[in-house]
Amino acid sequence: MAAALSAFIHEYKEVLEKELKELIEELQAPKVLKEAMDYSLQAGGKRIRPMLVFATLASFQKEPKIGLEAAAALEMIHTYSLIHDDLPSMDDDDLRRGQPTNHKVFGEAAAILAGDALLTYAFQVIARSNNYSSDQRVTLIEWLAKAAGPEGMVGGQMADIEGETKELTLEELEYIHKNKTGRLLAYSVMAGAMLSGADKHQLEHFRKYAFHIGLAFQIRDDILDIEGSEEKIGKRVGSDSANHKSTYPSLLTMAGAKAQLTEHADAARAALRQTNTDSALLFELIDLIVTREQ
Ligand code: IPE
Ligand code: IPE
Ligand code: MG
Ligand code: MG
Ligand code: MG
Repeated sequence: MAAALSAFIHEYKEVLEKELKELIEELQAPKVLKEAMDYSLQAGGKRIRPMLVFATLASFQKEPKIGLEAAAALEMIHTYSLIHDDLPSMDDDDLRRGQPTNHKVFGEAAAILAGDALLTYAFQVIARSNNYSSDQRVTLIEWLAKAAGPEGMVGGQMADIEGETKELTLEELEYIHKNKTGRLLAYSVMAGAMLSGADKHQLEHFRKYAFHIGLAFQIRDDILDIEGSEEKIGKRVGSDSANHKSTYPSLLTMAGAKAQLTEHADAARAALRQTNTDSALLFELIDLIVTREQ
Protein backbone atom coordinates (compact mmCIF):
# COMPACT_ATOMS: atom_id res chain seq x y z
CA MET A 1 0.00 0.00 0.00
CA ALA A 2 1.27 3.49 -0.81
CA ALA A 3 2.83 5.23 2.19
CA ALA A 4 0.48 8.23 2.09
CA LEU A 5 -2.63 6.05 2.16
CA SER A 6 -1.23 3.79 4.82
CA ALA A 7 -0.49 6.75 7.13
CA PHE A 8 -3.92 8.24 6.43
CA ILE A 9 -5.70 4.99 7.24
CA HIS A 10 -3.65 4.52 10.39
CA GLU A 11 -4.53 7.99 11.64
CA TYR A 12 -8.23 8.01 10.84
CA LYS A 13 -8.93 4.43 11.84
CA GLU A 14 -7.96 5.39 15.36
CA VAL A 15 -10.18 8.48 15.31
CA LEU A 16 -13.12 6.43 14.03
CA GLU A 17 -12.69 3.56 16.47
CA LYS A 18 -12.53 5.94 19.42
CA GLU A 19 -15.74 7.60 18.25
CA LEU A 20 -17.48 4.22 17.85
CA LYS A 21 -16.38 3.17 21.32
CA GLU A 22 -17.73 6.37 22.88
CA LEU A 23 -20.99 6.17 20.97
CA ILE A 24 -21.71 2.77 22.48
CA GLU A 25 -20.46 3.67 25.97
CA GLU A 26 -22.85 6.60 26.27
CA LEU A 27 -25.94 4.53 25.43
CA GLN A 28 -28.57 3.97 28.10
CA ALA A 29 -29.47 0.43 27.07
CA PRO A 30 -29.33 -3.17 28.35
CA LYS A 31 -25.75 -4.24 29.01
CA VAL A 32 -25.85 -7.29 26.76
CA LEU A 33 -27.15 -5.24 23.85
CA LYS A 34 -24.31 -2.75 24.23
CA GLU A 35 -21.81 -5.60 24.51
CA ALA A 36 -23.11 -7.26 21.35
CA MET A 37 -23.01 -3.98 19.42
CA ASP A 38 -19.53 -3.17 20.68
CA TYR A 39 -18.24 -6.69 20.00
CA SER A 40 -18.84 -6.51 16.26
CA LEU A 41 -17.90 -2.84 15.95
CA GLN A 42 -14.56 -3.36 17.66
CA ALA A 43 -13.79 -6.74 16.08
CA GLY A 44 -11.69 -5.02 13.45
CA GLY A 45 -12.56 -4.54 9.82
CA LYS A 46 -10.84 -2.51 7.20
CA ARG A 47 -13.05 0.58 7.72
CA ILE A 48 -12.91 1.16 4.01
CA ARG A 49 -16.23 3.05 3.91
CA PRO A 50 -15.21 5.58 6.58
CA MET A 51 -11.87 5.97 4.80
CA LEU A 52 -13.72 6.85 1.61
CA VAL A 53 -15.67 9.55 3.46
CA PHE A 54 -12.47 11.00 4.93
CA ALA A 55 -10.42 10.70 1.73
CA THR A 56 -13.14 12.40 -0.33
CA LEU A 57 -13.13 15.33 2.10
CA ALA A 58 -9.32 15.41 1.88
CA SER A 59 -9.52 15.59 -1.91
CA PHE A 60 -11.25 18.97 -1.48
CA GLN A 61 -8.65 20.05 1.12
CA LYS A 62 -11.29 19.82 3.82
CA GLU A 63 -10.67 18.57 7.34
CA PRO A 64 -11.49 14.82 7.16
CA LYS A 65 -12.96 14.84 10.68
CA ILE A 66 -15.91 16.85 9.36
CA GLY A 67 -17.14 13.46 8.16
CA LEU A 68 -16.72 11.68 11.48
CA GLU A 69 -20.38 11.25 12.42
CA ALA A 70 -21.40 10.31 8.89
CA ALA A 71 -18.55 7.78 8.83
CA ALA A 72 -19.46 6.32 12.23
CA ALA A 73 -23.10 5.97 11.19
CA LEU A 74 -22.05 4.27 7.99
CA GLU A 75 -19.76 1.82 9.76
CA MET A 76 -22.57 0.99 12.21
CA ILE A 77 -24.94 0.20 9.33
CA HIS A 78 -22.29 -1.80 7.52
CA THR A 79 -21.58 -3.76 10.72
CA TYR A 80 -25.28 -4.47 11.25
CA SER A 81 -25.48 -5.77 7.68
CA LEU A 82 -22.62 -8.18 8.42
CA ILE A 83 -24.17 -9.43 11.67
CA HIS A 84 -27.41 -10.23 9.85
CA ASP A 85 -25.61 -11.57 6.75
CA ASP A 86 -23.85 -14.16 8.93
CA LEU A 87 -27.01 -15.46 10.64
CA PRO A 88 -27.91 -19.14 10.14
CA SER A 89 -30.96 -18.12 8.08
CA MET A 90 -28.76 -16.09 5.74
CA ASP A 91 -25.14 -17.09 4.93
CA ASP A 92 -24.70 -19.12 8.11
CA ASP A 93 -21.11 -18.15 8.82
CA ASP A 94 -19.15 -18.70 12.01
CA LEU A 95 -16.20 -16.39 11.49
CA ARG A 96 -16.18 -12.64 10.87
CA ARG A 97 -13.37 -10.13 11.20
CA GLY A 98 -11.23 -12.94 12.55
CA GLN A 99 -13.60 -13.70 15.42
CA PRO A 100 -16.66 -15.86 16.05
CA THR A 101 -19.73 -14.27 14.50
CA ASN A 102 -22.06 -12.24 16.68
CA HIS A 103 -24.75 -14.94 16.97
CA LYS A 104 -22.12 -17.53 17.97
CA VAL A 105 -21.21 -15.41 20.98
CA PHE A 106 -24.47 -13.74 21.97
CA GLY A 107 -27.11 -16.04 20.44
CA GLU A 108 -29.38 -15.33 17.51
CA ALA A 109 -31.90 -13.12 19.28
CA ALA A 110 -29.26 -10.76 20.66
CA ALA A 111 -27.43 -10.72 17.32
CA ILE A 112 -30.61 -9.72 15.48
CA LEU A 113 -31.30 -7.02 18.06
CA ALA A 114 -27.70 -5.75 18.02
CA GLY A 115 -28.07 -5.36 14.25
CA ASP A 116 -31.39 -3.55 14.64
CA ALA A 117 -29.84 -1.29 17.26
CA LEU A 118 -26.83 -0.38 15.09
CA LEU A 119 -29.14 0.41 12.18
CA THR A 120 -31.41 2.73 14.10
CA TYR A 121 -28.70 4.36 16.22
CA ALA A 122 -26.85 5.33 13.05
CA PHE A 123 -29.68 7.67 12.07
CA GLN A 124 -29.90 9.10 15.59
CA VAL A 125 -26.19 9.97 15.46
CA ILE A 126 -26.52 11.95 12.24
CA ALA A 127 -29.84 13.58 13.15
CA ARG A 128 -28.52 15.06 16.41
CA SER A 129 -25.14 16.19 15.10
CA ASN A 130 -24.09 19.78 15.74
CA ASN A 131 -21.48 19.58 13.02
CA TYR A 132 -23.86 19.61 10.09
CA SER A 133 -26.50 22.12 9.00
CA SER A 134 -30.14 21.00 9.03
CA ASP A 135 -30.07 20.68 5.25
CA GLN A 136 -26.92 18.57 5.37
CA ARG A 137 -28.44 16.30 8.01
CA VAL A 138 -31.59 15.70 5.99
CA THR A 139 -29.52 14.91 2.90
CA LEU A 140 -27.18 12.58 4.80
CA ILE A 141 -30.15 10.75 6.33
CA GLU A 142 -32.09 10.47 3.08
CA TRP A 143 -29.11 9.21 1.10
CA LEU A 144 -28.14 6.76 3.84
CA ALA A 145 -31.69 5.39 4.14
CA LYS A 146 -31.86 4.95 0.39
CA ALA A 147 -28.44 3.27 0.20
CA ALA A 148 -29.13 0.90 3.10
CA GLY A 149 -32.80 0.12 2.47
CA PRO A 150 -35.04 -1.68 -0.01
CA GLU A 151 -33.65 0.28 -2.96
CA GLY A 152 -30.11 -0.43 -1.81
CA MET A 153 -28.35 -2.91 0.45
CA VAL A 154 -31.44 -4.73 1.77
CA GLY A 155 -32.84 -5.05 -1.75
CA GLY A 156 -29.54 -6.49 -2.93
CA GLN A 157 -29.40 -8.92 -0.01
CA MET A 158 -32.95 -10.12 -0.81
CA ALA A 159 -32.02 -10.74 -4.45
CA ASP A 160 -28.82 -12.48 -3.31
CA ILE A 161 -30.82 -14.88 -1.13
CA GLU A 162 -33.46 -15.45 -3.83
CA GLY A 163 -30.69 -16.18 -6.32
CA GLU A 164 -29.22 -19.00 -4.25
CA THR A 165 -31.12 -21.77 -5.94
CA LYS A 166 -30.80 -20.63 -9.54
CA GLU A 167 -28.19 -19.68 -12.09
CA LEU A 168 -28.33 -15.91 -12.51
CA THR A 169 -27.64 -13.85 -15.60
CA LEU A 170 -24.76 -11.39 -15.44
CA GLU A 171 -27.31 -8.58 -15.39
CA GLU A 172 -29.05 -10.06 -12.35
CA LEU A 173 -25.73 -10.58 -10.62
CA GLU A 174 -24.72 -6.99 -11.33
CA TYR A 175 -27.98 -5.82 -9.73
CA ILE A 176 -27.12 -7.81 -6.60
CA HIS A 177 -23.55 -6.55 -6.36
CA LYS A 178 -24.48 -2.96 -7.14
CA ASN A 179 -27.02 -2.96 -4.34
CA LYS A 180 -25.87 -5.30 -1.59
CA THR A 181 -22.37 -3.81 -1.60
CA GLY A 182 -22.15 -0.94 -4.05
CA ARG A 183 -24.69 1.41 -2.56
CA LEU A 184 -23.10 1.81 0.87
CA LEU A 185 -19.68 2.27 -0.70
CA ALA A 186 -21.17 4.85 -3.04
CA TYR A 187 -22.78 6.63 -0.11
CA SER A 188 -19.36 7.00 1.51
CA VAL A 189 -18.04 8.96 -1.43
CA MET A 190 -21.21 10.96 -2.01
CA ALA A 191 -21.48 11.96 1.65
CA GLY A 192 -17.87 13.15 1.62
CA ALA A 193 -18.39 15.06 -1.62
CA MET A 194 -21.62 16.68 -0.43
CA LEU A 195 -20.04 17.77 2.88
CA SER A 196 -17.14 19.22 0.87
CA GLY A 197 -19.50 21.40 -1.16
CA ALA A 198 -18.93 19.58 -4.46
CA ASP A 199 -20.80 21.09 -7.39
CA LYS A 200 -23.31 19.15 -9.53
CA HIS A 201 -20.72 18.29 -12.15
CA GLN A 202 -18.28 16.94 -9.56
CA LEU A 203 -21.02 14.96 -7.80
CA GLU A 204 -21.87 13.24 -11.08
CA HIS A 205 -18.26 12.13 -11.60
CA PHE A 206 -17.92 11.03 -7.99
CA ARG A 207 -21.10 9.01 -8.45
CA LYS A 208 -19.48 7.18 -11.38
CA TYR A 209 -16.26 6.62 -9.44
CA ALA A 210 -18.28 5.25 -6.54
CA PHE A 211 -20.36 2.97 -8.76
CA HIS A 212 -17.27 1.36 -10.26
CA ILE A 213 -15.40 0.90 -6.99
CA GLY A 214 -18.56 -0.59 -5.46
CA LEU A 215 -18.74 -3.28 -8.12
CA ALA A 216 -14.99 -3.82 -8.05
CA PHE A 217 -15.12 -4.28 -4.28
CA GLN A 218 -17.69 -7.08 -4.44
CA ILE A 219 -16.00 -8.78 -7.42
CA ARG A 220 -12.80 -8.85 -5.35
CA ASP A 221 -14.85 -10.22 -2.44
CA ASP A 222 -16.14 -13.05 -4.67
CA ILE A 223 -12.58 -13.78 -5.86
CA LEU A 224 -11.29 -13.87 -2.28
CA ASP A 225 -14.05 -16.30 -1.32
CA ILE A 226 -12.23 -18.75 -3.61
CA GLU A 227 -8.59 -17.65 -3.64
CA GLY A 228 -8.30 -15.89 -0.31
CA SER A 229 -6.76 -17.05 2.91
CA GLU A 230 -9.11 -17.43 5.84
CA GLU A 231 -6.44 -16.08 8.15
CA LYS A 232 -6.03 -12.89 6.15
CA ILE A 233 -9.67 -12.13 5.36
CA GLY A 234 -10.93 -13.18 8.77
CA LYS A 235 -13.97 -15.00 7.38
CA ARG A 236 -14.68 -18.41 5.99
CA VAL A 237 -13.41 -19.15 2.50
CA GLY A 238 -15.76 -21.16 0.27
CA SER A 239 -18.93 -19.77 1.84
CA ASP A 240 -20.38 -18.75 -1.55
CA SER A 241 -20.12 -22.15 -3.18
CA ALA A 242 -21.40 -23.83 0.00
CA ASN A 243 -24.47 -21.58 -0.28
CA HIS A 244 -24.81 -22.11 -4.06
CA LYS A 245 -24.39 -18.41 -4.80
CA SER A 246 -23.85 -17.12 -8.28
CA THR A 247 -20.68 -15.01 -8.20
CA TYR A 248 -18.50 -13.30 -10.80
CA PRO A 249 -16.04 -16.21 -10.92
CA SER A 250 -18.83 -18.80 -11.08
CA LEU A 251 -20.50 -16.99 -14.00
CA LEU A 252 -17.46 -15.69 -15.88
CA THR A 253 -14.61 -17.99 -14.76
CA MET A 254 -11.86 -16.65 -12.52
CA ALA A 255 -10.04 -15.02 -15.44
CA GLY A 256 -13.28 -13.37 -16.59
CA ALA A 257 -13.96 -12.04 -13.09
CA LYS A 258 -10.45 -10.59 -12.90
CA ALA A 259 -10.90 -8.91 -16.27
CA GLN A 260 -14.12 -7.29 -15.02
CA LEU A 261 -12.33 -6.16 -11.90
CA THR A 262 -9.69 -4.40 -14.01
CA GLU A 263 -12.34 -2.80 -16.20
CA HIS A 264 -14.19 -1.34 -13.25
CA ALA A 265 -10.95 -0.07 -11.73
CA ASP A 266 -10.05 1.67 -15.01
CA ALA A 267 -13.51 3.21 -15.26
CA ALA A 268 -13.22 4.44 -11.66
CA ARG A 269 -9.86 6.10 -12.47
CA ALA A 270 -11.33 7.77 -15.55
CA ALA A 271 -14.26 9.15 -13.54
CA LEU A 272 -11.98 10.40 -10.78
CA ARG A 273 -9.83 12.33 -13.25
CA GLN A 274 -12.96 14.22 -14.28
CA THR A 275 -13.68 15.48 -10.79
CA ASN A 276 -10.85 18.04 -10.92
CA THR A 277 -9.91 17.41 -7.33
CA ASP A 278 -6.63 16.55 -5.68
CA SER A 279 -7.62 12.94 -5.21
CA ALA A 280 -4.35 11.00 -4.75
CA LEU A 281 -5.80 9.04 -1.82
CA LEU A 282 -8.91 8.11 -3.79
CA PHE A 283 -6.72 6.78 -6.61
CA GLU A 284 -4.75 4.74 -4.09
CA LEU A 285 -7.98 3.39 -2.64
CA ILE A 286 -8.83 1.94 -6.07
CA ASP A 287 -5.54 0.04 -6.04
CA LEU A 288 -6.26 -1.16 -2.52
CA ILE A 289 -9.72 -2.42 -3.50
CA VAL A 290 -8.38 -4.27 -6.54
CA THR A 291 -5.43 -5.92 -4.84
CA ARG A 292 -6.70 -6.38 -1.30
CA GLU A 293 -6.18 -9.74 0.34
CA GLN A 294 -8.19 -8.84 3.44
C1 IPE B 1 -17.64 -7.30 3.67
O1 IPE B 1 -17.27 -5.99 3.69
C2 IPE B 1 -19.00 -7.45 3.08
C3 IPE B 1 -19.09 -6.95 1.73
C4 IPE B 1 -19.88 -5.99 1.42
C5 IPE B 1 -18.31 -7.58 0.68
P1 IPE B 1 -15.79 -5.58 4.08
O2 IPE B 1 -14.84 -6.40 3.27
O3 IPE B 1 -15.64 -4.10 3.98
O4 IPE B 1 -15.69 -6.06 5.59
P2 IPE B 1 -14.92 -5.43 6.82
O5 IPE B 1 -15.67 -4.22 7.26
O6 IPE B 1 -13.52 -5.10 6.40
O7 IPE B 1 -14.96 -6.51 7.86
C1 IPE C 1 -22.68 -9.32 1.85
O1 IPE C 1 -22.06 -9.95 0.81
C2 IPE C 1 -22.93 -7.91 1.65
C3 IPE C 1 -23.66 -7.37 2.82
C4 IPE C 1 -24.61 -6.53 2.66
C5 IPE C 1 -23.33 -7.79 4.16
P1 IPE C 1 -21.33 -11.30 1.23
O2 IPE C 1 -22.26 -12.24 1.88
O3 IPE C 1 -20.55 -11.75 0.05
O4 IPE C 1 -20.30 -10.74 2.33
P2 IPE C 1 -19.29 -11.63 3.14
O5 IPE C 1 -18.44 -12.36 2.09
O6 IPE C 1 -20.09 -12.55 3.99
O7 IPE C 1 -18.47 -10.63 3.89
MG1 MG D 1 -24.28 -12.66 1.88
MG1 MG E 1 -21.84 -13.47 3.65
MG1 MG F 1 -18.62 -12.61 0.14
